[in-house]
Amino acid sequence: MLCVLNKKMTVDPINVSNVTKSFDGGKVSVLRDVSLRVVRGKLVSLCGPSGCGKSTLLQIIAGIEGADTGQVFVEGVSLENEAKRLHALRHKIGFIFQLHNLIADLTMEENCLIPSIAIGKDRGEALDRFHELANRIGLEKRTRHRIQDLSGGERQRVAICRALMNRPSIIVADEPTGALDQKTSWSVFGLLCDLVVSDQVTMIMATHDQNLAKSSDRMLSMRDGVIE
Ligand SMILES: Nc1ncnc2c1ncn2[C@@H]1O[C@H](COP(=O)(O)OP(=O)(O)O)[C@@H](O)[C@H]1O
Ligand SMILES: [Mg+2]
Repeated sequence: MLCVLNKKMTVDPINVSNVTKSFDGGKVSVLRDVSLRVVRGKLVSLCGPSGCGKSTLLQIIAGIEGADTGQVFVEGVSLENEAKRLHALRHKIGFIFQLHNLIADLTMEENCLIPSIAIGKDRGEALDRFHELANRIGLEKRTRHRIQDLSGGERQRVAICRALMNRPSIIVADEPTGALDQKTSWSVFGLLCDLVVSDQVTMIMATHDQNLAKSSDRMLSMRDGVIE
C-alpha cells in the first residue's frame, strides 16, 4: 500500500515525451517532437497562435486522439492503445471545451450525469456528487434548467461541473474562457483556480488571454507544433 501511495505521490500526472502528430496521411505535420511534464496540483497554461497545435496536444494528453510517435503518460500509465486512452478519459481526465459541448435541450443535471453513466456509477452517488458540485459552482438553483436557457458564463460553469463529476485528478481545458467576456472569463478562471487548490487537481489550459496565462503557475509557449 505504502509503495502504491509513494508511486502516486512521485509520478507526474502528465508526462509527454517526444510526441509527433500529423494529419492527412502525414501531409500536415501538427506536433513535432513535443515533450512536457506537469507537476501535481499546478495550473499550466499553453499559449500560442491559432493553428499552432494547442488543441491537438490537449486532445492527445486527454486520450481523445492518439499520438503518431512518442509517449504520453497520465498518472504514470502509458496511453499506448485505445483502451488505455478511453480509460484515462473516463476516469482520470476532465475535459473542458471552448464552447462547452453541452446538449442544449437537456437540463444541467442531465448533461452532468452523462460521464457518470459512461462509467456505470451508482445513480444516487452520482446525484450526490452533482449537487455538491452545483453548490460549489453557485448553480444550485439552475439544476433543472435547460442549457439553452443559461448564459454563456453559466454554461461554462456547467461544463466545469460535468468535467469534475468522476473526480478526475487532471483537468484539460481548451480555451475555457475563449467565448466569454472579460469579467465572466475571470470569474470562470477564478473558479478553476479554486478547484486546482481545493481538490489538488492538476490542470493544463490553452488560452489566448495573456493575463490569465500570467496568473497561472507556469506558462508554455507553442509555435508551429513545437513548445518553445
Ligand atoms: N482532424 C484534423 N485533420 C486535419 N488537420 C487538422 C485536424 N485537426 C487539426 N488539424 C490542423 O492542425 C493544425 C493545428 O490545429 P489545432 O491543434 O486545432 O491548433 P490550435 O488549437 O493551436 O488553434 C491546424 O493547421 C489544423 O488545421
Ligand atoms: Mg484550438
